[in-house]
Amino acid sequence: MQRKILKYPDPVLKRKAEAIAAVTPEVRQLAEDMLETMYASEGIGLAAPQVGESIRLIVVDVTGPEKREEPLVIVNPEIICSAGEVVSDEGCLSVKELRSEVTRAETCTVRGLDLDGNAVEIEAEGMKSVCLQHEIDHLDGVLFIDRISRLKRTLYDAKVRKWIRLGRKL
Ligand code: NI
Repeated sequence: MQRKILKYPDPVLKRKAEAIAAVTPEVRQLAEDMLETMYASEGIGLAAPQVGESIRLIVVDVTGPEKREEPLVIVNPEIICSAGEVVSDEGCLSVKELRSEVTRAETCTVRGLDLDGNAVEIEAEGMKSVCLQHEIDHLDGVLFIDRISRLKRTLYDAKVRKWIRLGRKL
């Protein structure tokens, strides 16, 4: 089932998400829904808070939405090491009509659980590394617009306030 994606400035997006105590059928269903929602929205990553569930679950597929070859679901993901620096152009399904350059680690290693509750460790580089860092940020209530220049952020906030004032759907 596709879920509705919350948009900035929804307060759920600012909240620190709770760790998942057990991988239950509900968690597995949510992961499935999130993948479906992500592909349908032509995204390459999605975090549970974006669909209103403030828990530590992310899905990523940098081959999507066309190929859908590498769906990756991580429960309680944690970056255990990272290296280098890379600047890339980012957007977010929860941040309407904005893309901006963001500086992140070039490579990272993420530890967490899969949907069977087994420990997994993923070494990532390139777009996958950037995407994992972006999604894990969501679990801490951080959006990519928290990592852009102050001027760009101020301009964007003014635009969002205007949309809200005009009653435009976010
Ligand atoms: Ni995002």
